[in-house]
Formats: sequence, structure tokens, C-alpha cells
Amino acid sequence: MTTLERAEAAERAMSEELERAVVKSAIYTSGERDPREGAPPRPPGKKVMMGADPRLPKMPDKPTLFDFFKLRFGPTQHMMQSARLAQKNVLPEKLVLACLVHDIAVAGFIRGDHGYWAAQLVEPYVDEEASWAIRYHQALRFFPDESVGYAYPKSYIDLFGEDFVPDPYIQRDYQYALNHKWYMSARQICVNDLYAFDPNVKVELEEFTDVVGRHFKQPKEGLGFDASPSSHMWRTIMWPTKYL
Ligand SMILES: [Fe+2]
Ligand SMILES: [Fe+2]
Repeated sequence: MTTLERAEAAERAMSEELERAVVKSAIYTSGERDPREGAPPRPPGKKVMMGADPRLPKMPDKPTLFDFFKLRFGPTQHMMQSARLAQKNVLPEKLVLACLVHDIAVAGFIRGDHGYWAAQLVEPYVDEEASWAIRYHQALRFFPDESVGYAYPKSYIDLFGEDFVPDPYIQRDYQYALNHKWYMSARQICVNDLYAFDPNVKVELEEFTDVVGRHFKQPKEGLGFDASPSSHMWRTIMWPTKYL
């Protein structure tokens, strides 16, 4: 058996214990398997997952942003440290919030183009400038700005190699952002991002209760259950194995 076959066998065994079959979205496995092959067949006689996955912590009926932080996102210290630093640097509160959520796509959704995904997730609920800044922080991270002491991240050399060149669409979006009135807001996310990886600092989410209360328009139906343009994305984070 290849490693992939072994992993799939282990997964099959695990999902056999579940009452309902898990059929993974193409994007979960694309690359590890050729998406053109389609998903492996579901165990015969089993219904498929059509809601909450029992392997995941139960979400409240009307989930808040904090519920997603606590029950669905991976490590969030980096974002909380960024937000705390932004507060220390006396950034406007809406940008403190932007720092707090700038990498939620990495923490809980999809890594590639994380700035664009995160911006879309929060767009209906935050100030336009904040979501704009989140969208463009991703492109700006690749380009230094001496005027605010932002250098190309050393970690990027480690991650991508010396000779990495950002994709043409990232260069285009950088140029666009550079000439935009909110350029400095997106740049501020980068400035506060850069110094935010300290394993010895522990920040509590509750530190930001007031900032979130003032600047994140939490829908009364709960995130995922209002009719906003991104509520389906929140539902996918909540129910990642829903069949349809
Ligand atoms: Fe980021
Ligand atoms: Fe970040």
C-alpha cells in the first residue's frame, strides 16, 4: 500500500465508526489525489453527513466570531498578538479588529490567497476600510516599505526561498494598493504582523471583546445563518464535511 492508500484505509476505518459517511470536498484532497478521479465511494448502505460532524465540537445555534475562534480555528495567538501590538501602536480600533482577523482563512478555511478569503468572510460585518486592508495585506507582505520600517520578512526567505517572485496578480494588486487611499491601513497590518510571532506572549481573546463589540456587526441570527454574501462560507467552516 502507498502512503496515500494507507491514509485512506485508516480514514475509511474511522468513518465506518460514524453513523454517516464522510465524503470530502474535492479541495480537501486535490493534489494528494487527482480531483478528476472523483471521491472514493461511500460505504454501502450509509447515509451521508448532512450537517454537524460529530467529530468536531458542537457549535452554538447562533455562533459568534468568538465561537469560531474557539471551536473551529487553529492556533490564533498570532492574530491576537498582532491585534495587541496594533493597540499598543495606537491604531484606530477598526484596524485593531482587522489585525485580529487578518489570518482567519489560514486558521480555519483555506490558506492559498488567505487575504482575499479572510476579507470576503468578514466583509459584510466590518468597516469597508478594514476588509480592504485585510484583502491587500497579503500582497503587501511581499514588498518592503522603508517609510514605516517594513522590510521583506526573513521568514519568507526561509519559507519560499531566496529567488521567490510573487505571482503577477500579486504584483498587480500590490501596485493597485500602493496608489489607494487606504494603502497605509493594509500596510499597518503588515507592520503589526511582522513582530507578532512571539511564543512567550499569551493573549486572551476576551481582551478584544469591546473592540469586536464595537466594530464587528455580529448578525443576530448567528454567523452562517444571516443572508449575507459570506454566510455560506461560515457555514462551510462550521460543517466542513456537509455533503451538499
Ligand atoms: Fe497574512
Ligand atoms: Fe499574519
